[in-house]
This record gives sequence, C-alpha cells and structure tokens, in this order.
Amino acid sequence: MSESIFVKGDTKQEKYENLFPQVLSVVKNEQDMFANMANVASMLHFTFDFLWTGFYRVVENDLVLTSFQGSLACTRIKKGRGVCGTAFERETTMIVADVNKFEGHIACSSLSKSEIVVPIFKDNKVIAVLDIDSEELNTFDETDKLWLEKICKAIF
Ligand code: SME
Repeated sequence: MSESIFVKGDTKQEKYENLFPQVLSVVKNEQDMFANMANVASMLHFTFDFLWTGFYRVVENDLVLTSFQGSLACTRIKKGRGVCGTAFERETTMIVADVNKFEGHIACSSLSKSEIVVPIFKDNKVIAVLDIDSEELNTFDETDKLWLEKICKAIF
C-alpha cells in the first residue's frame, strides 16, 4: 500500500493538502471502521515517516489498541492515563512537545520524544483516538492538529 502513495510537498502543510484527498478516496467506499483505521494509519505513517502511528478505540471506557504502524505497543489504556487517556478524558487534542516532561506519559518506546493524540467523536462521544509518536522533540504543531482532526472527522 505505501508504495502506491505518492505525497508531494516540501512542507507539512503541502503534504497534508496532498494526502487529504487520497485519504478520502481510500475510505469513501468502505464503511468498516477497522479497515479504514488500518489504511489511514499506514498513509500517515509512511507520508511523514513517524515513529508510531495508530488508533486506540474505546471499549467499556478503556482505550484498546486497534490498527497501527510501528513497534509493539501497550494494548489497553485507562481513561485519564498517559497522553492517550488524557485526550480521551478531556475530549481534546493533546500536543506534547517533550514526552519526558508529561507526567504519566506511557512509554511504549524509549525512542519516542514527542506525541500528538487526537480524539475521534461519534454522536458527541469519544469512540477512539489517533496517536502519533515522533523520534524528534517538538514535532507536532497547530498544522498537524488541524489536519489530523480533519482526517479523523472525515473517516468516521
Ligand atoms: N504514549 C502513549 C501510549 C501509547 S504509545 O505511545 C503507542 C500515552 O502516553 O498515552
């Protein structure tokens, strides 16, 4: 799949602009949430060469690992725990410039330095989160927040 994605752009803004219609075209004819999460994780991961890119879905008020690209990750996160559980509890996107300075950060990889977590809503309730880790400090900003929120809205 990744070989078939060609995302042009020198800046992240240009890359997101080019990626977005490709995401829409991949998900538009598929209703299955798991299939779409798998493809979107792959498209984001290989476009930006992130360390880890994946989804946790809400199951009985816990976050449970779903589709991802990257190395082994923790399978279940309690509401309010770590960056993912905090985004779930606060129902807002969390941008963490330095994960070592985030109290309660759950380190699935010692290589992870910064992180963004975007909650995904259905009927005004969080049903999943998109979690992305970077090997660099301070990777994520308002541009990522805007586009990742747009992608998360579009695919569910
Ligand atoms: N770092 C996350 C846990 C998930 S892994 O990064 C894949 C957190 O603190 O919630």
